[in-house]
Amino acid sequence: AVLTLTALAAFEAVAVMPAAALQLGAARASARRIGTILDEPDPVTEPAVPRPRPSGPVHVRMSGVQVRYEPDGPLALDGLDLDLSAGRRVALIGPSGAGKSTAAAVLLRFRDPAGGAVTLNGADLASYAADDVRTVIGGCPQDPHIFDATVRDNLRLGRPGASGDELTAVAARTRLLPWIDSLPKSWDTPVGAHGAAMSGGERQRLALARALLADPAVLVLDEPTAHLDPETRAALTADLLTLTAGRATLLITHEMEGLDQIDEIVVLDHGKVTERGTHAELMRAGGRYRQLQDGPSFWPG
Ligand SMILES: Nc1ncnc2c1ncn2[C@@H]1O[C@H](COP(=O)(O)OP(=O)(O)OP(=O)(O)O)[C@@H](O)[C@H]1O
Ligand SMILES: [Mg+2]
Repeated sequence: AVLTLTALAAFEAVAVMPAAALQLGAARASARRIGTILDEPDPVTEPAVPRPRPSGPVHVRMSGVQVRYEPDGPLALDGLDLDLSAGRRVALIGPSGAGKSTAAAVLLRFRDPAGGAVTLNGADLASYAADDVRTVIGGCPQDPHIFDATVRDNLRLGRPGASGDELTAVAARTRLLPWIDSLPKSWDTPVGAHGAAMSGGERQRLALARALLADPAVLVLDEPTAHLDPETRAALTADLLTLTAGRATLLITHEMEGLDQIDEIVVLDHGKVTERGTHAELMRAGGRYRQLQDGPSFWPG
């Protein structure tokens, strides 16, 4: 009996081995992919001795910022000046390829400028640790990543320590609650790879909620209303303007509605500022901005 049982027990150990072997293969492939990423040169340099993370009121200033993606390539951004401080909202608008997301990448320290200066409370942005910069300047990228996880876990990425009440509060502010309540497992519902089980508007709202939960001193929102139908876009734009009122925000957008509520509008084209001012000033100036306000409700192309 002992012999028979020992033999059976041995099979129990062996039976799981094909599955383990399969997992080993997948893990090796993942390790190779991570290795490739780690071998890439870092687009930003970290200071040897970073400055302490700034606390209290934050003031970010870009002056004459230039960016190129290749050493001999064209300037994606050529001489951008921006002033982001408490309570002030700035909109960055312009056609596709103008350099809007490039400006966001510089602010979030994903890319170092080739010329000009970016300062955070008067000190060079590059003198802070990149991760510290991203706790004070944060937001929502143009293509926010939704993970193959539950609604709760996807939102909590914004601030891993957030309580259930805080998650509910931010979901209410971004009008996600009716959708969450309608889900079969509510907050515990998986959203599928890349949020496949969500609509475009729900994905954008989730990304916005995540950014608000992180609560950075300077909020950078890159095309938060892109890829939505006109009705959803109008509703989200209205909510967005309410949610960002009174906080330092850089709003990158193709949307031409609601810009009269923004403190400064900066129009970029081919990396250069072509117009800047308030909505009223730009309307009086009668340039491209005025033409677009009189025409379609969003920047074409
Ligand atoms: N990673 C990259 N490598 C090389 N060139 C890039 C890269 N990202 C952007 N560019 C180039 O830099 C310029 C500005 O691109 P950017 O993404 O900032 O434009 P954008 O104003 O955000 O456009 P959109 O409205 O389409 O989002 C474009 O010419 C673009 O092709
Ligand atoms: Mg962009």
